[in-house]
Amino acid sequence: MSKLNNNELKVGVIGLGYVGLPLALHLDRFFCTVGYDINDEKINQLLLGKSPIDDIKDTEICNSKILFTRELCDIKECNIYIIAVPTPIDNFNRPDLSPLESASETVGKVLLPGDVVIYESTVYPGVTEEICIPILEKTSKMKLNDDFGVGYSPERVNPGDAEHPIDKIDKIISSSSKKYLDIIRCVYSSFLDSKIYCAPTIKIAEAAKILENTQRDVNIALVNEFSIICHELQIDIKEVLSAAKTKWNFLDFQPGFVGGHCIGVDPYYMIHKSQQIGISPEVMLVSRKTNNNYPNYIGNKIVKKILELGLDIKK
Ligand SMILES: NC(=O)c1ccc[n+]([C@@H]2O[C@H](COP(=O)([O-])OP(=O)(O)OC[C@H]3O[C@@H](n4cnc5c(N)ncnc54)[C@H](O)[C@@H]3O)[C@@H](O)[C@H]2O)c1
Repeated sequence: MSKLNNNELKVGVIGLGYVGLPLALHLDRFFCTVGYDINDEKINQLLLGKSPIDDIKDTEICNSKILFTRELCDIKECNIYIIAVPTPIDNFNRPDLSPLESASETVGKVLLPGDVVIYESTVYPGVTEEICIPILEKTSKMKLNDDFGVGYSPERVNPGDAEHPIDKIDKIISSSSKKYLDIIRCVYSSFLDSKIYCAPTIKIAEAAKILENTQRDVNIALVNEFSIICHELQIDIKEVLSAAKTKWNFLDFQPGFVGGHCIGVDPYYMIHKSQQIGISPEVMLVSRKTNNNYPNYIGNKIVKKILELGLDIKK
């Protein structure tokens, strides 16, 4: 018997980081919400009403009704699970899917017929269907779509960006089956003050998220490369960009370090998948290399300048 009742959705957010915690706080306004994390210190901090994230005030934690927990038994009554665990890379720039696998196992242990599991972590196309769903099926001993549904909905929030808060960003959703898509839409439309875009498949939604961040990486690499060449030619890159920006379709990227948790990591997920199928993704590889090397170029220039100044002082 399904325990899913549209009027009484109980949501479990798995992973309370930059993505999961703000999401849980928004969901808490509409649904009974449980926040689960394996980090004891973080859970203890949250239980004391202290926010582990700068953007979120302690009062938001104190005023919420969220049950913060690391106990499996506390999430077993949930009928919607949203997984927002990290998807880092290892020392060889290969995807480390262990947090995602372990979170899928956790949810699989408590999954019941009618439940829906939504993944928000950034992954390469195929991870949800080829890695996560088999774990859910194996652990729960249930069948996708016959017994439970799965969705993928990438998060686009940029921590610290007050102009684009989580509830004002258009959201991509996707699902393993149309019947679960309606439930997923219902969950997100509760708190979103923005549009919801239904991607035709989970793989399309996964690939779209990686493309968004890879596009930034490639564009930043281009201006970084331009900035190095202009510097060597003694041309002011800022003036070059100001002039170029006067064209209507010029993309306004600035040279600099690739910031945040995602831009320097996510392209490696697509690079990995691409190489798995025998394609060498030259543009992505060279962009990653260019952006990884840019801090060295700037560092060397600073050292050179300091040395020059040092020599001048000695004179
Ligand atoms: N931070 C961003 O700006 C951002 C933006 C969009 C998308 N994303 C993506 O969202 C995902 C989450 O990123 P984040 O920045 O919130 O990560 P984070 O490191 O801030 O938080 C992840 C949380 O998950 C917990 N966790 C790890 N393994 C777990 C498990 N097995 N079960 C339960 N909890 C577990 C960790 O303890 C941590 O508290 C990643 O895939 C990331 O690429 C991040």
